[in-house]
Amino acid sequence: MTTPVRLRPEIAALPPYRQGKQASPDAFKLSSNENPFEPLPAVVDALRGAVTVNRYPDATASELRAALAAKYGVTTDEVHVGAGSVSLLLQFIQAAAAPGDEVVYAWRSFEAYPGLVTVAGATSVQVPNRADGSHDLVAMAAAVTERTRLVIVCSPNNPTGTTVTTHDFETFMAAVPDDLLVVLDEAYAEFVTDPDAVDGESLTERHPNLVVLRTFSKAYGLAALRVGYAIGASSVLDAARATAIPLSVTEQGQAAALASLEHESELMTRVDRIAMLRDQVRQALVDQGWDVPAAQGNFVWLPTGEQTATAAGVFADHGIIVRPFAPEGIRITIGEPSSVDKLLHAAQQVRQNTSL
Ligand SMILES: Cc1ncc(COP(=O)(O)O)c(C=O)c1O
Repeated sequence: MTTPVRLRPEIAALPPYRQGKQASPDAFKLSSNENPFEPLPAVVDALRGAVTVNRYPDATASELRAALAAKYGVTTDEVHVGAGSVSLLLQFIQAAAAPGDEVVYAWRSFEAYPGLVTVAGATSVQVPNRADGSHDLVAMAAAVTERTRLVIVCSPNNPTGTTVTTHDFETFMAAVPDDLLVVLDEAYAEFVTDPDAVDGESLTERHPNLVVLRTFSKAYGLAALRVGYAIGASSVLDAARATAIPLSVTEQGQAAALASLEHESELMTRVDRIAMLRDQVRQALVDQGWDVPAAQGNFVWLPTGEQTATAAGVFADHGIIVRPFAPEGIRITIGEPSSVDKLLHAAQQVRQNTSL
């Protein structure tokens, strides 16, 4: 497409972000890995109390950082808060990688990674997942060159749902240079039930080149308020803070996140329910004959291959809006319990109507 102004060609070629389809009122929107639960009353109260909109918010999110620092047993300087973990990702990429530099990540993984790397002017190096949908950390370590400035590890991986084990992660950290920034994207950490899965926050002290990203969008159900955070060495976080657009985290977001931490056990009961439902849905899909990778986030992955668009259409016909990634597969969020029968029925129909 031609534009009236001169643009960076790689940006002109970059498709703008496309949100998961909005669902009609009688359909279930299972396309954006959102939390189906309404906000806790305490969160609504906190939002009602955060009405000072004529003033800028606290630029350093000091109260929220203090609460997170207490939760993880780190200093407040070892916590950095951003407007969603996706904005933190961009900050770290910009801080570490310039034109000519490479960013290594698994593929398929979170769909935002390629665009963020391009925006920073750096080059993506995508390392294919193993057949079971999990990261090939040995190949990722082997893909690191002189030009590599950052590696993103996503566990649980969006969209395949698989985790990286602590053992494999430690082997990977030992294999890569210790001055290479490794970002462990744990947007779905709270849903993990596999005891072998890596738990990044316990490792940052041992690895000063490791930064862990988490978010209030998923388990805490605050997606609209845009609050994510990073844990890592303060000097590394300072580099991200230097690239950040100041004042992006709103007072409302900070207040809701704080209230959520105060009522964390109640929220984690909900998370447990979602994780249990996830295991039931995955098992039912496996019983139907689907090859569903081990699912540790709030979503499952169906490898629908070339039939992805057709399969997404069948789900839509059953009132289930999924996220298709043609020609690989479909990601389905674990949402309202009342969506499950429709979801499983649609999945069964897909198997009957296609060669899957
Ligand atoms: C793997 C992963 N990382 C980061 C994010 C960004 O989340 P947020 O910017 O809402 O914190 C998402 C959202 O879908 C995700 O799937």
